[in-house]
Amino acid sequence: MFSSGEARCAPRYNGYSLTTSPRLELRRVSKTYPGNGQPLQVLHEISLEVPAGAVTALLGRSGCGKTTLLNLAGAMDFPSSGEVLIDGRATSSLNDADLTLLRRRRIGFVFQFFQLLPTLTVLENVELPLLLAAARGAREAALDRLRWVGLEEKAAVLPYQLSGGQMQRVAIARALVHSPDILIADEPTGNLDTASGDQVLALIRQAAARFGAAVLMATHSAEAAAIAALRVRLRDGRIESLERS
Ligand SMILES: Nc1ncnc2c1ncn2[C@@H]1O[C@H](COP(=O)(O)OP(=O)(O)O)[C@@H](O)[C@H]1O
Ligand SMILES: [Mg+2]
Repeated sequence: MFSSGEARCAPRYNGYSLTTSPRLELRRVSKTYPGNGQPLQVLHEISLEVPAGAVTALLGRSGCGKTTLLNLAGAMDFPSSGEVLIDGRATSSLNDADLTLLRRRRIGFVFQFFQLLPTLTVLENVELPLLLAAARGAREAALDRLRWVGLEEKAAVLPYQLSGGQMQRVAIARALVHSPDILIADEPTGNLDTASGDQVLALIRQAAARFGAAVLMATHSAEAAAIAALRVRLRDGRIESLERS
């Protein structure tokens, strides 16, 4: 199914990295925002290994630092101290070219409000990450992912013609079109009804279980937390508890 458009930096076998270091690891990560006048420390020395081939859920009330942590884990932002390591390399040590490659090849993102581009068709939205990476076989790979999420027949429509659940499935197809081995999901079911949310969770679970991605997902939903092998509860920017199932 995930046959074409493969583009990766690290060698993999059956979805698992051949490197010995964990694929995604946070080491004593802290984050302080400058704020207006008073700096605001949002994360305090978070250490966490995110396992490959499994879903890790990030739980905690609004404002506890989940999105901040996801932005750091996805190399969209950098810690104020500590390190985010991807295959053992600190994201803050990478130059701009390496960061661009990392984001385009290794990491997929899913957001609460889908963030599809409204003027592009469904197929074009899914293709876009591969076109930006100048990868070959973009169209075939995009169709393959649309088939996987059950929306091949919607390829030619614009996002506004879809339901919320369908939009999120397109967003998942886009997030996984380049076969990333890290998937970052920020409240992916937060804006969906239960049935649509369940479909989305089934796909996220497959991204981990069948395709070997290390999935880090912030959520408020008990259903979403239930698919996780590891549940990390944050409170005021600190890990309050770690629970494995
Ligand atoms: N770019 C930013 N600049 C300043 N403060 C921010 C920024 N992003 C988030 N915050 C603050 O950091 C805290 C944690 O936010 P966030 O990581 O979005 O939490 P969550 O996703 O758990 O709701 C909040 O107090 C929020 O207002
Ligand atoms: Mg958030």
